[in-house]
Amino acid sequence: MEKFLDELTKIVEDAFEASGYDGIYGKMSLSDRPDLCQFQCNGALPAAKAYKKAPFMIAKDVVEKLENSDVFEKVFTAGPGFINFIVKDTFLTQYLNSMKSEEKFGLKAAENPKTIIIDFGGANVAKPLHVGHLRSAIIGESIKRICKYLGHTVIGDVHLGDWGLQIGMVISELYRRKPELPYFDDNFSGEYPKEPPFTIDELSEIYPAASKLAKSDEAAMEAAKKATFELQKGKPGYIAIWKHILSVSTADLKKNYGALNVEFDLWKGESDAEEYIPDMLKYLNENNYTHKSEGALVVDVAKEDDTYEIPPIILLKSDGAVLYGTTDLATIVQRIKDYNPDEIIYVVDKRQGLHFEQVFRCAKKTNIADEKLKLQFIGFGTMNGKDGKPFKTREGGVMKLHDLIQLIKDNAKGKLKDDRDFSEEETEEIARIIGTAALKYGDLSNAVTKDYVFDLDRFSSFEGNTGPYLLYTVVRIKSILKKAAEDGVNASNSILTPTNNVERDLMLKLVKFGEAIEGSYEDKAPNKICEYLYDLSNLFNRFYHENKILSEEDLNKKASWIALLKLTLGILDTGLNLLGIESPERM
Ligand code: ARG
Repeated sequence: MEKFLDELTKIVEDAFEASGYDGIYGKMSLSDRPDLCQFQCNGALPAAKAYKKAPFMIAKDVVEKLENSDVFEKVFTAGPGFINFIVKDTFLTQYLNSMKSEEKFGLKAAENPKTIIIDFGGANVAKPLHVGHLRSAIIGESIKRICKYLGHTVIGDVHLGDWGLQIGMVISELYRRKPELPYFDDNFSGEYPKEPPFTIDELSEIYPAASKLAKSDEAAMEAAKKATFELQKGKPGYIAIWKHILSVSTADLKKNYGALNVEFDLWKGESDAEEYIPDMLKYLNENNYTHKSEGALVVDVAKEDDTYEIPPIILLKSDGAVLYGTTDLATIVQRIKDYNPDEIIYVVDKRQGLHFEQVFRCAKKTNIADEKLKLQFIGFGTMNGKDGKPFKTREGGVMKLHDLIQLIKDNAKGKLKDDRDFSEEETEEIARIIGTAALKYGDLSNAVTKDYVFDLDRFSSFEGNTGPYLLYTVVRIKSILKKAAEDGVNASNSILTPTNNVERDLMLKLVKFGEAIEGSYEDKAPNKICEYLYDLSNLFNRFYHENKILSEEDLNKKASWIALLKLTLGILDTGLNLLGIESPERM
């Protein structure tokens, strides 16, 4: 089946053609005046130019053709040449009934499925995961799910920062603390210990200590740089420490991301691109893309019509060290070789926009990425505190993700009043689900590029445009369905035509599911799903308040309502799932 608007468009296109006009003018859209009509078509206005005729006359011709349609209750002209539509209730329910029986509610999978790599998460090993990485994880996970839902092959890659100076910092700090470890003994020839020389807690303390020292102590900074250099040249003891850092960090990251329902198909990192760098540089040099600038090896990426300055991308510093851009470029090489993707989407802080612009331009200019590979940067805004500055702990430090999740969970727990008969265990689980929903929805409901204020109380409120409100709606529907089942009332096979306005409004929202999901895919905008789900929840709750579902005496009507509720629940659950949000059985 087609999306609802497309279905309507087909009919109106035919009416344009039957009146002697080109069908392309028959495109339908949502109504700008929901008080007057449900849908509209503005095509008579551009058609008027093409046919040198008054738009009103064209609109009138089309309306005439649709007079006896079994799809539209009312078709009428308005203003200079708009056509307004109200669909027949029978058509509406017929569509709902097909949605109900189709997989994905009738939403068709992409005709040409693409292979899409999503680069998100982007945590740096050895450093604790902080709220700065939160948005990448939350948004990337949702975009990943949306692309998958539409039938694309999607590969989520965490792309760890695992090869930079922070590793050298940890190595040199470890040497300062435990010089006797075999990793530092150049004459050591045995096998290095299997047990890591630190726990995650120690590791999380080592890095900040080293970084602090390096800021004030030049010798310490030099030692960290030297260690990084030697690591990258493959010094065995350092590689062994690096592997420990990687395994300890990764285990911790998996736990943290897991708590957020964020999962990756690949746990690759910057280090995995390393082996591709020499050949890549050789190719770039041989094809004269590079030149030397103040000792560094660079590629120019500026274009004539640039409105701001785009500096050359530096591939090698004068000391021979590779940079962030070099790694990202080599990662593109690696991904093409391993997966031959159609698209690579990067979900990263928008402040890295210039970096990606340079990398993408260089990849295209040098044919590392051919024309058909789409490279897309999705830059997100900052999560701020109420003071409008990047979110911090109350003491002013960087908030660790783990602590933030705990904070939200505790808040949710406080709201689950103790008059409920939940066991301790169930309370914990429900608090976890509500807390994550509050956090994720609070983030995803904003347009990706926007900065937003993290407001614990607002995000976790059970009312308003929040995650918990949506969960509350889902739980309400589940509980009605459960009671109905206990009363022996089953959903009817088909949903009957609406008996009141709010029921019709709810139905009209449900049929727009396909449009909402595709819109969010096109724009890579999970906030569009949030908007849809919020509207749907509001309509459902109005429907619930205006109709006594469980005490309805007309059993046909009641059974139809139960079917309508089931469909609403299915769509809410699907939408939440695309946001990466779970829903509880009760709360
Ligand atoms: N590790 C980086 C950071 O914390 C983010 C990585 C983003 N992905 C990429 N391919 N550069 O800033």
